Amino acid sequence: MKTVQLADNVYWVGAVDWLLRDFHGYSTARGSSYNAYLILDEKVTLIDTVKKPYKSEMMHHIRNIIDPQKIDYLVVNHVEMDHSGSLPEVVEEIRPEKIICSKMGHKALLQHFHRPDWPYEVMGSGDEMKIGKRTLSFLETRMLHWPDSMFTYLKEDEILFSNDAFGEHLATSERFDDEVDPCVLMQEAAKYYANILLPYSPLVKKLLEQVREMRLPIRMLAPDHGVIWRSDPGRIIDAYARWSAGETNGRALVIYDTMWQSTRMMAKAVAAGLGEEGVEYTLLDLQANHRSDVMTAVLEASALALGSATLNNGLVPDMADFCMYMKGLRPAGKIGAAFGSYGWSGEAVKIMNEFLKDIKATVCHEGLRVQYVPEHEQLGRCVELGRVMGRAVKATQAGEKVESVL
Ligand code: FEO
Repeated sequence: MKTVQLADNVYWVGAVDWLLRDFHGYSTARGSSYNAYLILDEKVTLIDTVKKPYKSEMMHHIRNIIDPQKIDYLVVNHVEMDHSGSLPEVVEEIRPEKIICSKMGHKALLQHFHRPDWPYEVMGSGDEMKIGKRTLSFLETRMLHWPDSMFTYLKEDEILFSNDAFGEHLATSERFDDEVDPCVLMQEAAKYYANILLPYSPLVKKLLEQVREMRLPIRMLAPDHGVIWRSDPGRIIDAYARWSAGETNGRALVIYDTMWQSTRMMAKAVAAGLGEEGVEYTLLDLQANHRSDVMTAVLEASALALGSATLNNGLVPDMADFCMYMKGLRPAGKIGAAFGSYGWSGEAVKIMNEFLKDIKATVCHEGLRVQYVPEHEQLGRCVELGRVMGRAVKATQAGEKVESVL
């Protein structure tokens, strides 16, 4: 089997998961990979492991290069089970001299595997370890996206092993950024950011500043999911800078769920109003679009018009699901408004307004309710809501401040 080499004596030895379709609520239509890396030096070092069912695949890749018993150090950059699920079996098999992790990683490893007898070596930000001719340097990245997360930098080869950060859920036979379709790659990278890292954007921003100040030369970025950025690591770093800064694209999303088509009619009228103001929009019916794809669109969108009928004094289930999911991911700096049809009580608009306030959106319209089926004049008011939102989008794109009406 062909080995995958990043640099002289530095190899990819992970596993590709062609089957993964759900990552706790995030639809992974293109599968994923669990990347692990092997460095051959005086101290043979394995960086990260893989999800439990993929352990033999990783060991197979290692065996193609070296006898796994020769591995001395095992670096655990992140304890989440997609990277550490196979750890107990791997430790049993290779019996490493050191298991290197962050302080929080040590705590999390104990809480996951209950093995105080393992040979832990705790590393903090700035700590270095010689493994022979090469040096590993560590950077704690707490809450990116777990408390235990850290990066490992291979100084001499200028490779940053960044764990989840800069990754994508993307199963491919290719291992490097220059070997895959760049549009697919950036789409999956954006989806990964929107659905995993978005709530930690202030920390991403801080981390990028820290890395910039450290003047770390990065020849290659090697995350634990998807491809290795070797041709242009700056491309994904720049994208992270934009996403973490909350840069928006001037587009509005009309996200809705409907019972008997009334809210859909309202959604189309809101979209027409946006169009009249020259604002580009996307209609996203939650019955036809997965929550994680909608979140990917939310990442760079300027405005969110949320529409739901009222069902049993609440939201229609797909909108309730989406609002809870979005609230946890905390997209910042959006313009928002709510609309929906109802039969007799009509709480949906009020509930969606509360969700918009929870994510600190600038609510540009107090919201619009229509009883049962909208007629011409009521659809006209939906068009007006779209126009109001469109004007707010244009104003914010021009750098003007828009005040919330709620
Ligand atoms: Fe890829 Fe946070 O695990």
